[in-house]
Amino acid sequence: MSQQLFSWFDEARYGLFIHWGAYSAGARGEWVMNRERIPVEAYRRDFVSRFGAEDYDPADWAAKARRWGMRYAVVTTRHHDGFSLWDSAANPYNARNYGPGRDLVRPFVEAFREAGLNVGFYYSPANWASPDYPGPFYRDWPGKEDWRDESSRRRFVAQYRAELEELCTRYGKIDYLWFDGCIPENIDGEETLGMIRAWQPGIAVNNRLGAPYDVRVCEQTINPPKEGGRWEACMTLNANWGYHAGDDRWKTPRDVIELLLTCAQKGGNLLLNVGPRADGAIPEESVRILDEVGEWLRANEASVRASDLSPFSWNNTARPITVKGNHVYLHFLVNPLGSFRWAELSNRVVSARWLDDGSSVHFEQSDGILVLRDLRWSAPGRTVELEVEGVPEPLTRQTTFWIPE
Ligand code: GLC
Repeated sequence: MSQQLFSWFDEARYGLFIHWGAYSAGARGEWVMNRERIPVEAYRRDFVSRFGAEDYDPADWAAKARRWGMRYAVVTTRHHDGFSLWDSAANPYNARNYGPGRDLVRPFVEAFREAGLNVGFYYSPANWASPDYPGPFYRDWPGKEDWRDESSRRRFVAQYRAELEELCTRYGKIDYLWFDGCIPENIDGEETLGMIRAWQPGIAVNNRLGAPYDVRVCEQTINPPKEGGRWEACMTLNANWGYHAGDDRWKTPRDVIELLLTCAQKGGNLLLNVGPRADGAIPEESVRILDEVGEWLRANEASVRASDLSPFSWNNTARPITVKGNHVYLHFLVNPLGSFRWAELSNRVVSARWLDDGSSVHFEQSDGILVLRDLRWSAPGRTVELEVEGVPEPLTRQTTFWIPE
């Protein structure tokens, strides 16, 4: 059942993460309140009040996400600062009562649905603004011993559940609930999960609630679960999640393509982040990079969507290698300088062609060696699609554990 239920996720391989909130007004990342020990009152005065969302246009975000080739989006409905982006009755510290003066979540859901994208909510149980939250300025996350007392813990649990109920019952179908933190521990995640399943049957939930989950996430690294199962790597485009005006450590379009393909090769998704400014605009540099990736993806999509787990090991020229059904996709993100010799494929090759323009690629195959010739390369990379007989298999399985990725 879950196979079918989450087919949108397995098909997608690429999603948009959006970190946006009062911290965007500080322009130095989403942890600013904690790192700089800013009291709630001062944060409200200096950050929340300057979080205006004046140019917020979720239809434009959604159009961009589509153009970039993403199939779903996850937006921070509430980050650790405790400021809710929707008109919440459970949390008066929200975007209706302060800052923008309106619900920012509903237009988001409507625009992304309208654009045919799957919708996800990021939600952080950790809440630096809650008087019941142990230690908003802790350098480490609080642990289960840190609650003031049991009634404080209970109030906290009731409050975050009330917020989740609003998120899960007000906005129609939500596809993905993306928890951050498992923090603090013992927030009775299992019972919360039962409620979520009742409010939103069919929603995918990640593994950060401290309860059973549908999707395992890894952060700033590609580390699929050894035990198998659905997974997703989330990554920043520079080195911050929330908007940081000074951070120009951007990944290149080719870096992003390589990350996306590495996820696809390992049978998982890439959730790639943008951090809009306080007015709602996505930084120009992010747009430029993602436009270029999107252009590449339009021509190479077949090698990414619904990819299977690849059984192939690495080589120094065609990597990553993705696999789907009886197709193998050799990605040349570096110039093969005219030809490529692959000593790994056990299947007979039926045809070889460039994925971007469909033109055929000259190949010869004998004694377990496949040679591709007359390869015309261009940046940021081209893909050769091989059609093979049967399910793609390597000549020998990789048995060593050292794989340089
Ligand atoms: C971390 C950070 C947070 C960010 C998240 C995304 O847990 O606390 O700021 O939202 O990673 O995965």
